[in-house]
Amino acid sequence: MEPNRITTHFVVLLVVGTLIVSAAAEYVRPPPGRVILTEHDKPASHPQQVHLSVVGANHMRVSWVTDAKHGHSVVEYGRASGSYTTSATGEHTSYRYYLYSSGKIHHVTIGPLDPDTVYYYRCGVVGDEFALKTPPAALPIELALAGDLGQTEWTASTLAHVSKTDYDMLLVPGDLAYADTQQPLWDTFGRFVQEHASRRPWMVTEGNHEVEAGMALPGSPGPFVAYTTRWRMPHEESGSTSALYYSFDAAGGAVHVVMLGSYAAFNSTSEQYGWLARDLARVDRRATPWLVVLLHAPWYNTNAAHAGEGEAMRKAMERLLYQARVDVVFSGHVHAYERFTRVYDNEANPCGPLHITIGDGGNREGLAFDFQKNHKLARLSLMREASFGHGRLSVVNATAARWAWHRNDDADSTFRDELRLESLAATAACRRTQPFADYWSDEL
Ligand SMILES: *[C@@H]1O[C@H](CO)[C@@H](O)[C@H](O)[C@H]1NC(C)=O
Ligand SMILES: *[C@@H]1O[C@H](CO)[C@@H](O)[C@H](O)[C@H]1NC(C)=O
Repeated sequence: MEPNRITTHFVVLLVVGTLIVSAAAEYVRPPPGRVILTEHDKPASHPQQVHLSVVGANHMRVSWVTDAKHGHSVVEYGRASGSYTTSATGEHTSYRYYLYSSGKIHHVTIGPLDPDTVYYYRCGVVGDEFALKTPPAALPIELALAGDLGQTEWTASTLAHVSKTDYDMLLVPGDLAYADTQQPLWDTFGRFVQEHASRRPWMVTEGNHEVEAGMALPGSPGPFVAYTTRWRMPHEESGSTSALYYSFDAAGGAVHVVMLGSYAAFNSTSEQYGWLARDLARVDRRATPWLVVLLHAPWYNTNAAHAGEGEAMRKAMERLLYQARVDVVFSGHVHAYERFTRVYDNEANPCGPLHITIGDGGNREGLAFDFQKNHKLARLSLMREASFGHGRLSVVNATAARWAWHRNDDADSTFRDELRLESLAATAACRRTQPFADYWSDEL
């Protein structure tokens, strides 16, 4: 479709939308966006697909790809543009997916870095200069959230909105490239997001579009090959034996973020379950007032799309999160926005987590738009809307945070949904008197 035809489409839709909004206060969903394929227009040896993630309290991992065989796994960096006072060497890897061979995938950990500081850096000695800002070492911290990204015009709009207001870190509850086994789409995605992912750390977990399992034949690629090779996250650092789930601290440990794997085994005898119980038991809520979990397939969902898909995992793991007094659970998968009240075991519960679905990042499949008015959970669902957008969790201090959901088609200053949160660690009625580990002594 030609861009001007899309524009015409939009104008018509906006007019129709406005009419319907004013008539029935219902929002008319925009159509899926055109896929944008971002080409590499530099020499093969030139670093591309640059993105960042945090590793421990004061290090960051810089990841990128070179087509050529001879790219160096080196990052030079410093606090002034063009003046690199330090350099770090890392490693490179690659993978094959049937006939596709990836470029050289470089991972270099830099640091120790000062918090809340701008660094200028260059990859592979020959690359362009980028600037990053490290996250703060204490509260406040601004966490942006967007799920089910893809690489469409809507994704571009979502990421432009994310970057319009400063933030410290992007958290993605799964479904990145929508490559769906077409490996070159991982490369176009890496180039598509570089502008944003080279400036701030992106911390991600996997969705169903990351699985990409090959056929059950000898020599076939295993599941998650592209995802785990390209988007390496600090799982070893958090004691996890799987790249599919991990945790990390932000703001000097004031926020602990747990990235669960909806597509890794999760029942009570699984490694993920044992790791999660140990990880949560280590969290001291006096030092860590905020506990945030991300996973892909929502445990609470009133949309017809993906109904019940998170249920087995909810049944297996919800008790652990509840007993740890997790503050918020973010998910994706359903291409819409939905926020529940605090909930545990399908009932409102003031000490349960908030469940928020933020799967409306912009993917090519379009929006899910079929909320069930008579769903048994509808009474617990406080806000639901099928619009592309992103969220911001601004953690102000040990007791207060603010959640805001932005729609792409609103002005940047407009929040469609906004909420003040009190940390459950600070909520007297929910505070636990025993150390958390005691609750799971039978399981650890
Ligand atoms: C957990 O999963 C494993 C492997 O899928 C299965 O063999 C086992 O029976 C399950 N256990 C429970 C308690 O559901
Ligand atoms: C935390 O921030 C909230 C909202 O800005 C404020 O009302 C409260 O007094 C702050 N608490 C502390 C302990 O600073």
